[in-house]
Amino acid sequence: MSVNKPLPHDAAELHVTGAARYVDDMPVPADCLHLAFGLSPVAHGVLKSVNLEAVRAAPGVIAVLTADDLPASNDVSPSAHDEPLLATDKVNYVGQPVFLVAATSHALARKAAQKAVYDIEELTPVLTIEDALAAKDEFEEPLLFSKGDAQSALETAPHRLSGSINIGGQEHFYLESHAALVMPQEDGDMLVHSSTQHPTEIQHKVAEAIGKPFHAVRVEIRRMGGGFGGKESQGNALACACAVVSLRLNRPAKMRYDRDDDMTITGKRHDFRIDYDVGFDADGKIQAIDFTQYCRGGWAQDLTLPVADRAMLHADNTYHLPHARIVSHRLRTNTVSNTAYRGFGGPQGIVGMERVIDHIAHHLKRDPLEIRQANYYAPTGQTTPYQMEVTDSVIAEITDALTKSSDYQNRRAKVDAFNAENTILKRGLALTPVKFGISFTLTFLNQAGALVHIYADGSIKLNHGGTEMGQGLFTKVAQVAATIFAQPLSAVKITATDTAKVPNTSATAASSGSDLNGMAVKDACETIKKRLIGFVAEKWNADPALIRFIDGNVETGKKTLTFAEVIAAAYENRISLSATGFYATPKIQWDRKEGKGRPFFYFAYGAAVTEVVIDTLTGENRILRTDIIHDVGKSLNPALDIGQIEGAYVQGAGWLTTEELVWDDKGKLWTHAPSTYKIPACSDRPEVFNVALFDQGENTEDTIYRSKAVGEPPFNLGISAFLALSDAVAACGDGSVYPDLQAPATGEQVLRAVLRQQGQEL
Ligand code: MTE
Ligand code: HPA
Ligand code: CA
Repeated sequence: MSVNKPLPHDAAELHVTGAARYVDDMPVPADCLHLAFGLSPVAHGVLKSVNLEAVRAAPGVIAVLTADDLPASNDVSPSAHDEPLLATDKVNYVGQPVFLVAATSHALARKAAQKAVYDIEELTPVLTIEDALAAKDEFEEPLLFSKGDAQSALETAPHRLSGSINIGGQEHFYLESHAALVMPQEDGDMLVHSSTQHPTEIQHKVAEAIGKPFHAVRVEIRRMGGGFGGKESQGNALACACAVVSLRLNRPAKMRYDRDDDMTITGKRHDFRIDYDVGFDADGKIQAIDFTQYCRGGWAQDLTLPVADRAMLHADNTYHLPHARIVSHRLRTNTVSNTAYRGFGGPQGIVGMERVIDHIAHHLKRDPLEIRQANYYAPTGQTTPYQMEVTDSVIAEITDALTKSSDYQNRRAKVDAFNAENTILKRGLALTPVKFGISFTLTFLNQAGALVHIYADGSIKLNHGGTEMGQGLFTKVAQVAATIFAQPLSAVKITATDTAKVPNTSATAASSGSDLNGMAVKDACETIKKRLIGFVAEKWNADPALIRFIDGNVETGKKTLTFAEVIAAAYENRISLSATGFYATPKIQWDRKEGKGRPFFYFAYGAAVTEVVIDTLTGENRILRTDIIHDVGKSLNPALDIGQIEGAYVQGAGWLTTEELVWDDKGKLWTHAPSTYKIPACSDRPEVFNVALFDQGENTEDTIYRSKAVGEPPFNLGISAFLALSDAVAACGDGSVYPDLQAPATGEQVLRAVLRQQGQEL
């Protein structure tokens, strides 16, 4: 069996030698044009005119296009058709594309784009969550999920606390910035190479931009150098820009964002404010909770509604909330349009809940771990705030295993002893759990297709609708095909994702890549296998029930044939060796307006313990040790899964600690390069990092080989780093003040919180 083995990523060697090809590495024809956008310098204003004379006269410039020059649709929105490719009468954020330059080189296009003279009548920008609330600018009416009677239960609860947490956004910082290359074909068709998680949407948007049916556009992507949700919708603009230029000038066109442009133009993780009001008993058992979530969407809708929905759907995390009220505001601001990012709102919802637990524990002077365990979902009979019964929780088992493997209780005592002895350095420890819902909440997206060919020599070519962004999807899916035909992994060739091979696909997102595409590939392979069994039974006079594919061979019960021999014979006997496959996730249904149903096929669980040390004189801090146990069901590939968990944890910890986005009061993003935006480096990972898969993991639902999705859930484990910092800060005073850490807890924020504990201010 190829599945369950810790096989290396199929492109590992190509990645480390630099031989892996990305869109920007593709050789381009000599007449290829290079594009750049001219960007709005103003966050909010009436676009009266743009003088483009100097742009047109700049060296190397071949064409300059404004909204008036577009041949068909001027819209790159994935949702509400509220996002023009090029601004028309208004500008809505600093960095919004206003015009398009086509030049003979990338550098000349960028230089020329700087030369525009804008006439913009400035309007007051709505920048923050508070600004948008004051302006009453929301994308839709606030959404409410409600269970029981939170208001009465809050009033009668023995203890009650309220508070608020600000949670910052996050830049994706994929190492490969956005890129697209479009080659015009005969009859005005377009071949698009795009660094995208969503080739089908690129196909649709490009077709609309050039006014053609979807069949006129083919989109191909072999791999991305990271996506993390940032390439779910944000690639539309580049692909459409290339296509309209290609159509107009009948020349290939290429566009790639330089890092500063990428960070200025493209959407990020949604920042949130979450207000809470919680009632609980003397043991910290929650009786009622009232959350209000405020989500900053930026200037256009993009994926803000489902992101905000997922934040609500994760407001419970692993805890049973007998009475719950969750309200969500989706706010429009004159900032970049925020978008999908690993976890898709889920992490923000979970941070809100974990913050409440931390606050309750501080109030009751108890270890937060006890409060967590007291509130975990029971094995059966309890429902979420959206009234789905939780029947697959393994969080209690994972927590027990992790407290043992991380030596939690002894280390808790040691941290307390260290803090009693030391005044300058303080340590903190926190264990946080995660429960993450698996499925797109837009139910129809939970479908996938595949196309499998076996060539006459027995080699296998695999196509499916998922995209590879480093997560190892292609390896996992190839393992599925290799397992079904009992072939070595080397017999399976993984090809670029291509809308002409597998149509009508969903984004590779919501962690669903291997669940959906693995099943579709299995379906296609089984169709071919069934034909082969029928053929072998007839030709070699065997009982079909006894025919087995084992170790590269086909055993008939009487005779052993090689796979290659069977395939060659099948071909000569005119048996089809090609099949499509399809999968649609069963059992799910969801009414988002009612806030009721079963949005998720199942949940993934995990927990992390993080120990940190802070310097109380400077706020500087580091992660000393992290222990994780995470549930991936029966792992398709333990090596890839552990890599995903490690990377997700570090990315989650970065979000809540060092990664700070800073806008000025004119709406300009100042942190638009790695010099000012601090992502974790190798040296920032935990000094001791013990990551294990939950050894009893098995999906209770019938998923691909009983595995569980792994892409997003462990991102939430980074929350333990944030709450370990809170724990260290709490040790700085007499213990009476709740640290009230806001995210990201940068060095400055930690220092501020320490001084507050000591009765001072910075
Ligand atoms: N891992 C790497 N190396 N690079 C990425 O861009 N994206 C993450 C996760 N892991 C990502 C990654 C996100 S946001 C998702 S939704 C999943 O991978 C998508 O892939 P999957 O569904 O195949 O797990
Ligand atoms: N994550 C989770 N859910 C989603 C996503 C995603 O990236 N995209 C659409 N629904
Ligand atoms: Ca980005």
